[in-house]
Amino acid sequence: MINSVRIDILTLFPDMFAGPFNESIIGRAVERGLVHISIHNLRDYTHDRHHTVDDCPYGGGVGMILKPEPLFEAVESIKSAVIQRGEATPRVVLLTPQGGLFCQHIAAEMANLKALLLICGHYEGIDERVREHLIDDEISIGDYVLTGGELAAMVVVDAIVRLLPGVLGADSALNEDSHTNGLLEYPQYTRPREYRGWEVPPILLSGNHAEIARWRGEQSLSRTRQRRPDLLARDSDTKAKREN
Ligand code: ADE
Repeated sequence: MINSVRIDILTLFPDMFAGPFNESIIGRAVERGLVHISIHNLRDYTHDRHHTVDDCPYGGGVGMILKPEPLFEAVESIKSAVIQRGEATPRVVLLTPQGGLFCQHIAAEMANLKALLLICGHYEGIDERVREHLIDDEISIGDYVLTGGELAAMVVVDAIVRLLPGVLGADSALNEDSHTNGLLEYPQYTRPREYRGWEVPPILLSGNHAEIARWRGEQSLSRTRQRRPDLLARDSDTKAKREN
């Protein structure tokens, strides 16, 4: 039996997900049943004629705040359907610029979950009681503000799904990816051997696998030092490597 992951997404804009989730690697993973993705419209969990999901902030101020009732109702309903089917309860994660910063290491952790429920925040914010009593985690994909959590949810799903067993081909080298070992990836080349006078580094044509591996390691390290010194300072494993 395929060990597949279930991802539920709660959003005000379900149509935004059609393109990214039906194409390419994610589309194929969905088709092959390696991941089940369900998109839920938050407005389906309202009861008034206008399907109201937001309201003004108490205490005054600009912008609208997502109301607690539709969010609680939606999450509880999605969770109870999952429990009725005998499936694992999802981890509930809110996408927000106030969350902890998403990175490869968190993607890998999340790829080990059986079920995930992503909530896309919108407007100026979300009623604090949702944060306190409904969600397990808050994630930001970077220190900038998007119009909503949808693009962030797509980024998170993409980073998780490519790590699921069977999603990338057997010959893919997940361990060599940038960020997997705390370093950026080394430079890669393909044919032709010479293009407009620019040659492929001769070491890569040498057939000496040990030397090639050493060159790639050095390139990874110098590229990281040059472009992302913060990664070297952050990662103690990498520090140890540097000292060797
Ligand atoms: N919603 C708005 N901005 C966001 C961000 N940077 N990360 C996650 N969700 C968001």
